[in-house]
Amino acid sequence: MPSVAQGVGLRYANLTCPVRRPIAEHCSLTYVFSMASLRDDFLRFVSQTSPEPMGVEVSTSHGCIVVDTTGKEYLDLLSGIGVTGIGHTHPATVKAIKAQAERYLHAMVYGEYIQKPQVDLARRLAEITPGDLSVTYFTNSGTEAVEGALKTARKHTGRPGFVSFVGSFHGDTFGSVSVGGNPVYREPFEPLLPTTTFLPFNDCNGLQAIDETVAGVIIEPIQGEGGVRIPDDDFLPALRKRCTEVGALLIFDEVITGFGRTGKLFASEHWNVVPDILLVAKALGGGMPLGAFISTAQIMATLSHDPALAHVTTFGGHPVCCAAGIASLDVILQENLVQCAQEKGEEFVRKLKTLRGEGGCTEVRGRGLLIGMDFATPHITQRFVQECFARSLVLGWTLHEDTVVRLAPPLVISSEEIDRAVSIMRQVLGHL
Ligand SMILES: Cc1ncc(COP(=O)(O)O)c(C=O)c1O
Repeated sequence: MPSVAQGVGLRYANLTCPVRRPIAEHCSLTYVFSMASLRDDFLRFVSQTSPEPMGVEVSTSHGCIVVDTTGKEYLDLLSGIGVTGIGHTHPATVKAIKAQAERYLHAMVYGEYIQKPQVDLARRLAEITPGDLSVTYFTNSGTEAVEGALKTARKHTGRPGFVSFVGSFHGDTFGSVSVGGNPVYREPFEPLLPTTTFLPFNDCNGLQAIDETVAGVIIEPIQGEGGVRIPDDDFLPALRKRCTEVGALLIFDEVITGFGRTGKLFASEHWNVVPDILLVAKALGGGMPLGAFISTAQIMATLSHDPALAHVTTFGGHPVCCAAGIASLDVILQENLVQCAQEKGEEFVRKLKTLRGEGGCTEVRGRGLLIGMDFATPHITQRFVQECFARSLVLGWTLHEDTVVRLAPPLVISSEEIDRAVSIMRQVLGHL
C-alpha cells in the first residue's frame, strides 16, 4: 500500500502535466517547483470550468487585440464576453484606476462611507438610464445584480413568484440559476427557488400566465446565451403592459446588452420600454468587476428598512471599479461608441451575410454589435469556432444554442478588423 506521500506522487504522475516532483524518497513530502509552465499550473491550481479551456496565455491586450506570451495576436470578437466594449486596457480607464488607487482602495463596506467615485457614477447612471430609474445599488458582478433585483422584487411586492423565459441566462448563483431558462444548467443544482415559471420568449400569448402572485419578471431584452434572439416589436411592450396590469416588477437584464452593445445605450430603448429594475454589469466597469441594479427611489427604498442591513455587500461599488466605470462611460459618450456600434454592426452583418450558404452557415442576424451566426449542425458550429481560433480569431459559442455562434466585438472595432475577421471566416468555411 503506497504511503500518503507516494500516493500524492502517484496522483501527480498520472496527470498529463506533472509539475512537482519529490526530491527524494526520504523527503517525499517536500516538493520543488520544476520547470512547470504557467499553463501546467493553470490546469493544476486554477479551478477549471470546462475540459477544454481556450488557454490563451495573456501577455498584453489593447483595442480588439489580445497578445499571448509568444507574441501571437488574437482578434477578440467577444470582448472577453461583453466586457471590453471600449476596447481592452483603454488608457482612460487605466489612468482613472491608477489615480483612484493612489487616493484610497477599500475604505468601508458598501453603503456606509461617502465615496466620491461611487456617488459620481450613480449620478451619471441616473442621467443616462431611461424613465425615473435613478437609484443605483452597486455589486461586483452581473449575477449579484440579479440576486439583488430578485430580493428587491420579493420584498417590495410581498409576493412569492418569479417569471423568466425559456433560453434565458442570468448568471450562476442560486437565485440566478433558479431563473435561468435552460434545465441542463438548473437540474444539477436543484432544489432551486420553487416559485419560478418559465414562459416562451417572444410569445405574447404566454404573457397571460403572469398574474398577481408574481413579484418580478426577469428578461434579457435580447437573449444572448439563448442564441442572440431578438424579439418582435410587440413583445416587450406587451410584457410591460401585462406587468403593470398585475403589479409585477419588470426586471430587464442588460448585463450583456448595456452600454451601447446593441446600438442604443440600453437595448430596451429599441422598444421604448422602461423596466422597473435595470441590471447592468460587464461593460459597466470598463474592464473592472462592477455590476448594478438600478430602480426608482421608491422601489429601492425597500432595501433600507425592516430590517435595515438586509442586503449588504463588502466590496460592491469598489472605488477603483467605480472610477474605471466613470472613465469608461466618458469614453463611450465622448467617442460616440453607441453610434459606432450601430454603424459597425450594420457593416459587419452585411459582410457576414455574404458567407451564408458557405460551409454550413445558414443565417446571420444582429442588433448593433451583438451578432448571431446560425449553422446547420452543432458539429459544424464547433469546428467553425475551433478553426477560427486556430487562426487567431476569438469568437464563441452560446450556452443554450449549440448551432449559434455569437459575436460581440469591442465597439471600437475598425473596418479593417471586420474585413480580416470575415476573410478568416471565409477561409475556414471553405474547409468545413
Ligand atoms: C444576461 C446575463 N446576465 C447575467 C450574467 C451574469 O454575469 P456575471 O458573470 O458577471 O455574474 C451574464 C453573464 O454572462 C449574462 O450574460
